[in-house]
Amino acid sequence: MNDRTLCWQLSESIKQAVEYAMRSGKAHEIVGESSLGGTTRYFDKLAEDTVIDYLTANEVPCELISEEIGHVHFGDEFALYLDPIDGSNNALFGLPFYCTSIGIFHEDKQYGLVRNLVWDEWYEGMSEYGALYNGKPLETMHASSIISLYTKKGKYIEELREYSSKIRCLGSVALEICYVSKGSLLAFIDVRDKMRATDIAAAKVVLESAGGIVTDEHGQPLDLDDKLVNIVASYDHNIHASLVRALR
Ligand code: IPD
Ligand code: CA
Repeated sequence: MNDRTLCWQLSESIKQAVEYAMRSGKAHEIVGESSLGGTTRYFDKLAEDTVIDYLTANEVPCELISEEIGHVHFGDEFALYLDPIDGSNNALFGLPFYCTSIGIFHEDKQYGLVRNLVWDEWYEGMSEYGALYNGKPLETMHASSIISLYTKKGKYIEELREYSSKIRCLGSVALEICYVSKGSLLAFIDVRDKMRATDIAAAKVVLESAGGIVTDEHGQPLDLDDKLVNIVASYDHNIHASLVRALR
């Protein structure tokens, strides 16, 4: 099975699990703790479990790295980074902006799928071919001046005002990074020392395949390991360099 088919099938079962959990009235129930110490709710667990069941039943030879459970070893052929629901708080409190995020990393190629779970919209990145939006080549509109900024205690807001007076954050980092690839956002910045590989892996493939750039706050490449990182992402390499300077 190719990467695209696998991710699409996984996203379909996640979508169904999330819709079922939302209808059940217990989506918000806390059922455990995530691999990095956050809260795991019923719908996060249900969505992740459908993936684990699928990978088990189909003997998919991958290392799964998923937000709730952490690492599960099914095989050595590739790494599969999963955030079953990115934007859980939006979903729980009725803000219609959340997605599922699935990234496949082979030694020599990568594939990422970020699928909006609210309306019919999906982003794909293929390191060998480019990026797609809803199945068609993704075209970046160079129009937006909005920066999505996740920060602590208002840090860097003043520095970034030089580049934009429109600073906000939307609550689903994977989807936001994809919105950067489309040009709906000028840039995405997260300087909370909080981002994990599972949050960003798929969206990073999408943005990079679209020609954009994703680094840490010093402009250095990101390693997708278990460390917490900061992120600066833009479709425009010059703007990215300016933003990195602004964060010094
Ligand atoms: C969260 C969202 C949110 C960000 C949090 C993430 P989750 O993902 O991306 O925008 O502020 O840091 O944890 O928990 O819904 O997968
Ligand atoms: Ca999540």
